[in-house]
Amino acid sequence: MKSLLVVNSSARTARSITRHLTARFATTWQTLNPGGEIIDRDVGARPVPQITHEWIASAYSDPVDHTPAMREALSVSDMLIDEIFRASAIVVGAPMYNFGMPAHLKAYVEQIIRIGRTFAFNGPGALSPYEPLVPSKPLVIVTSTGAGGYEAGGHSAHQNFLEPHLETVFSLIGLTDISFVRVASEQSKDGRFQQAILNAETAIDRLAARIGRGNSDTAEVATMVA
Ligand SMILES: Cc1cc2nc3c(=O)[nH]c(=O)nc-3n(C[C@H](O)[C@H](O)[C@H](O)COP(=O)(O)O)c2cc1C
Repeated sequence: MKSLLVVNSSARTARSITRHLTARFATTWQTLNPGGEIIDRDVGARPVPQITHEWIASAYSDPVDHTPAMREALSVSDMLIDEIFRASAIVVGAPMYNFGMPAHLKAYVEQIIRIGRTFAFNGPGALSPYEPLVPSKPLVIVTSTGAGGYEAGGHSAHQNFLEPHLETVFSLIGLTDISFVRVASEQSKDGRFQQAILNAETAIDRLAARIGRGNSDTAEVATMVA
């Protein structure tokens, strides 16, 4: 059975732009996959716990030596990682908070980047220190920002710690087939935001149709700049 993993991280449960667009993606995907499963992982409304000393001690020790308490420390991580492996495609809503990702989403990232489960260390001499362990699948990342100019070449590109960070951490575990859909300038009063939303909805519909039909070989970047 096909599965779509929907990760939302906006703290807003009403009037959220990223939630609007991830929901729109899921609706189209579900229409194309009526028997498919939607996995609702809402870390904005239902935050996942921060990792702890016990989490790190457990993650970096041999599972055969794990006590019940150590297994418990990793149980949320196990569940979240199982969702990623089960998914045929993933859509993530990621608002910009203070130039990066929301703390809720960072807590999720901490839980899913796990030695021996989603990545391994390569030996000395390898081209990359990391080996991804998650099979490639389409990942759509929806971002929204109050201001504009964060795109490459924009006046605030140097302050965009959201997209490069997300691209780095998801690529580390093997999710390199990434399409970004961006909404900028929510705070503008001159029509740029309305146009950005329309452009983003068009991009979402196109991506959901292509990915929902299982045709997703090539990553594309849908740049929505107001
Ligand atoms: C806590 C917080 C921090 C924010 N930080 C930034 C920021 O650094 N740069 C920016 O352009 N917008 C910032 N914004 C505006 C949001 O990125 C914008 O409202 C976005 O549309 C939120 O996504 P959502 O509608 O899905 O909640 C911030 C908003 C909040 C609530």
